[in-house]
Amino acid sequence: MFHFLLLLLLFILQISHFTSEKTTTITSSSSTKNNLVYTSCTNASYPKICIRTLSSYSTIKTPKDLAKASLNVSISRANKASKFLKNLKVKSKREKGAIVDCIEQISDSIYDLRKALFELKHLHKGYGFKFQINNLETWVSGALTYDDTCLDGFKEIDGNVRYDVKRKISNVAKVTSNALYLINQLDRSG
Ligand SMILES: *[C@@H]1O[C@H](CO)[C@@H](O)[C@H](O)[C@H]1NC(C)=O
Ligand SMILES: *[C@@H]1O[C@H](CO)[C@@H](O)[C@H](O)[C@H]1NC(C)=O
Repeated sequence: MFHFLLLLLLFILQISHFTSEKTTTITSSSSTKNNLVYTSCTNASYPKICIRTLSSYSTIKTPKDLAKASLNVSISRANKASKFLKNLKVKSKREKGAIVDCIEQISDSIYDLRKALFELKHLHKGYGFKFQINNLETWVSGALTYDDTCLDGFKEIDGNVRYDVKRKISNVAKVTSNALYLINQLDRSG
């Protein structure tokens, strides 16, 4: 009986040691990973959204990774918004027109964001860096302009459709605006 209790005690100690070790590793590694996200997001256009959308990326180790991830988020949100628009039930010709135009604008914006992500993945240090960063900034601000143009198309439309589209597209514009900020930061440091 005594042996059994001793074994049980040892077993419990072992488990608690293992668990505490595991927890400390997890907290320390995630806080080092996320530090860059938190500091870099501080002055972004939408800091909370910046942190929320980027802190789950375990691949972020440099400001360039951060900019890549932010473009990735932007592309994936734009794709979702586009699917949403394609599934909307329309009530009038006017609504249909605005939606068709918006789908086209979002598709153009995705094209620009993809170009930007490709360029960012092939960014050189030194010669040509400034030129590439300028291209990136042009494409990402272009994507933002498409989002605005889409929203403008709904100005004359009332009701739920306008509200839903506005919510989705503003969300895309916010993550894209954060991506532009993070790319601007690369420009400063490079
Ligand atoms: C954010 O902005 C403040 C005020 O302009 C500045 O002091 C700080 O260094 C900035 N932080 C980052 C990470 O850019
Ligand atoms: C980008 O996002 C997609 C999902 O939307 C994911 O599968 C992929 O791993 C991400 N890429 C990077 C570099 O984070």
